[in-house]
Amino acid sequence: MSTAPVGVFDSGLGGLSVLCEIRRLLPAESLLYVADSGHVPYGERSTDFIRGRSLAIADFLLGQGAKALVVACNTATAAAVNELRSRYDLPVIGMEPAVKPATAATRSGVVGVLATTGTLQSAKFAALLDRFAGTTRVLTQPCPGLVECIERGELASPATEALLRRLVEPLLSAGCDTLILGCTHYPFIKPLLQRLVPAEVVLIDTGTAVARQLQARLAEQQLLAPLDNRPAPVRFWSSGDPQAMHTRLPILWGEAVEVLPLPV
Ligand code: SIN
Repeated sequence: MSTAPVGVFDSGLGGLSVLCEIRRLLPAESLLYVADSGHVPYGERSTDFIRGRSLAIADFLLGQGAKALVVACNTATAAAVNELRSRYDLPVIGMEPAVKPATAATRSGVVGVLATTGTLQSAKFAALLDRFAGTTRVLTQPCPGLVECIERGELASPATEALLRRLVEPLLSAGCDTLILGCTHYPFIKPLLQRLVPAEVVLIDTGTAVARQLQARLAEQQLLAPLDNRPAPVRFWSSGDPQAMHTRLPILWGEAVEVLPLPV
């Protein structure tokens, strides 16, 4: 069982930012990655729709032998992680905007959260603020259109830059010195964002923390792959155009690998 793969999924290509962190920390783990690119973005879709897709994809990954699931999508985590956890008897790791580390990092006492409408309107996010915001002023910024730019591979195009500038300006004017990247797509535009904000603004994402959490959960259940399980295979599926994903992989994953059509 410990050489079984870890199943990872996202609405599209954003979860590859988490997959890269998992690969860095746990190079002996075999990995399966599903991009639901036929239905991206999830950000403005209904909770029922996202829950349905998440369950179908999770069933598929379990059918491929997954020993653990990583929901590498903030919006899908907010909509479906509780249901996934009650349905499957295996570790299910989800994402959440890094409110706690951001409140510890801010000096101005004002933090901004960039995320999808679905994440920001979720009960899970409200509970996170109740628990960790304390006296910090947390400003939220939905980012419609940004996931689409990243899916198109426009990580630093003039259109992406103009959109991002429009999204962060109100946060900066309100005194934010810490920005939470609350969507797994956004780490891919971190270099662009860094250029647009003053040097002292701290950018926080959760990919590394999620990889560490996966490591801890696998260790706890004695599911870590043996270190000699290398090179550990990685397999990719897309519900959209597998060829389009294949062409993006060298930039977002580091190499071009075959992408299969997702049958669900
Ligand atoms: C989206 O598909 O709209 C973004 C996914 C995420 O929240 O990570």
